[in-house]
Amino acid sequence: MRDRRGGGLLLTGASGFVGQSLLARWLARTDRPVTVLVRAADDRAAQARIEALLADGPKRRAPLRALASDVTDCDPADIVARVRAGGHDVDEIIHSAACVRFDQEIGDARAVNVAGTARMVEVAQRLHAERPLRRYVQVSTAFVAGAHAGPFGEKDRRIGQDFRNTYEQSKIEAEELVTGPAGAGLPLQVVRPSIVVGDRESGWTAAFNVLYVPLRALVAGAVDAVPEQDQGLLDVVPVDYVADGLLGLSDAPADGRTYHLTAGRHAITVGQLADLACRATGRKPPPRVSAETFVQTLSATAAGRVLAANLGDYLPYLDVRTTFDAAGAEAHLAPRGIRVTPVSDYLHRLIAFAQERRWGRLRRVRGVAPSLTTG
Ligand SMILES: NC(=O)c1ccc[n+]([C@@H]2O[C@H](COP(=O)([O-])OP(=O)(O)OC[C@H]3O[C@@H](n4cnc5c(N)ncnc54)[C@H](OP(=O)(O)O)[C@@H]3O)[C@@H](O)[C@H]2O)c1
Repeated sequence: MRDRRGGGLLLTGASGFVGQSLLARWLARTDRPVTVLVRAADDRAAQARIEALLADGPKRRAPLRALASDVTDCDPADIVARVRAGGHDVDEIIHSAACVRFDQEIGDARAVNVAGTARMVEVAQRLHAERPLRRYVQVSTAFVAGAHAGPFGEKDRRIGQDFRNTYEQSKIEAEELVTGPAGAGLPLQVVRPSIVVGDRESGWTAAFNVLYVPLRALVAGAVDAVPEQDQGLLDVVPVDYVADGLLGLSDAPADGRTYHLTAGRHAITVGQLADLACRATGRKPPPRVSAETFVQTLSATAAGRVLAANLGDYLPYLDVRTTFDAAGAEAHLAPRGIRVTPVSDYLHRLIAFAQERRWGRLRRVRGVAPSLTTG
């Protein structure tokens, strides 16, 4: 049956972790067309790239078209012309493409996350002028809260916080851009996930970063203690919640408001994660030691030194003191059956999947459903 909501989706970041999961859902659930902007030499290569990611995915209902585009140097007028030439109607845009590295120079982070957003906002304005859009979604991050300690709500933005890295800084600047004059008149939503981990059912992930680095060390027994300052908060959300949430907000007010896709009250501490991970793999919960002893322990073994090196950029995320309030998003999503659950409920599946994929060293394992079937 035809989906009565009509128009199609223009999606950036479709080859990424969140984008793959979102695209798989869209293609399986609706017959509304989707156009994806993908980095590639030309449109044919863009289509081939996305088709390869979809290769073993579920049956598709929606037509899919890929256009080659890099958000750092595309021409918005050209994008609009190519979208129109493709014959796909667009009534919503989800801008998910971003540079998510924490170690970029600020200029490089801004080139993708801020200037790239400016181009997508111009695409949106041009399309909106021709035929009104239902929504433009700016995928941001809850960590625009930076190093703020205490509650951070959906209405909060600049509250005097310091930033841990250029990623956080450039993402808040992108929010300011879309909610400023550039985005005026657009039906705008800003959506902020926290730390995105694998799928609750299958454990599938495309990214083995952030939480997976200490998790791997714990599971491998590379650390046999954790620092006694283990009260840092881990606000973790599964990718299926983020993808369902992004789609489920399609009929929520798009008037410039922000929605948090965060765990909130389900956030756990670093210490709880360590205990859970050990329990899930049959190890004894690690003892707490002083920070000094912990550092000495790490530097005493080769595995510990590897962990310390890998943890580098992620270490500041083990000492988060922010609590996220997601009242607006939850009020809209819970009645639609889209709910966040504690990571303790599905951590064992994340670990099992990560072990099967050897923590990212194997892209696919025979017998394991490929990413897009499970996303
Ligand atoms: N993962 C998380 O924990 C998390 C948490 C909070 C918010 N977010 C936000 O969620 C969104 C998606 O993140 P993700 O985890 O899916 O990241 P990801 O896996 O690194 O994917 C990033 C996507 O952006 C695309 N991209 C990067 N630079 C581009 C450019 N110059 N032009 C066009 N496309 C470009 C990438 O394309 P290529 O495949 O060509 O590189 C990829 O499709 C981002 O906005 C991020 O800030 C993520």
